[in-house]
Amino acid sequence: MIDVSKTSAQCFSKASDANQRMKLFKSLCNSPESLIRYASFSEEKYQRIRLAKSTEYELLLLCWLPGQSASFHDHGSSECLMSCLNGQLVETTSALGKAGCTQKHLLAAKEVRYLAGSDIHKVENCSDFGAISLHLYAPPINRCGIYCADLELVSEVDIHPDEIKDSFTLENTD
Ligand SMILES: [Fe+2]
Repeated sequence: MIDVSKTSAQCFSKASDANQRMKLFKSLCNSPESLIRYASFSEEKYQRIRLAKSTEYELLLLCWLPGQSASFHDHGSSECLMSCLNGQLVETTSALGKAGCTQKHLLAAKEVRYLAGSDIHKVENCSDFGAISLHLYAPPINRCGIYCADLELVSEVDIHPDEIKDSFTLENTD
């Protein structure tokens, strides 16, 4: 069984180049059943579940009910790797300042997306079923910019650790 914490740490370590990073993240996604058992949904908003964290990285499971979405945002000073583990998600991407140049695409099974801190995207569950995605941030994301449909910066938002549920908390409440 894969060591989730160790593999997450290796992904963005100095020893890993872009190819190794992809390979390591894909290895995390290869046994989705061991991760999606921590999934938790809410009618209020898509849910973020912390699977592992250090000062260097944070691994989150995001759980999306039909119609739930994350509006256009950047990733502050964090790099991000993400993949849809279960269900279907649509990602809309654009380069900063290029309003009208957005592109929507369905995240393919096993597709891994890399986003630099300044990359802006939007993620939504347009399907009729729940969806679960895996996100690895390095360093842990604590602030991000929110953008309107025209890709103008609307606000900068602090992300407090308490907003994210810990997977061990879920295990303890079983
Ligand atoms: Fe994102």
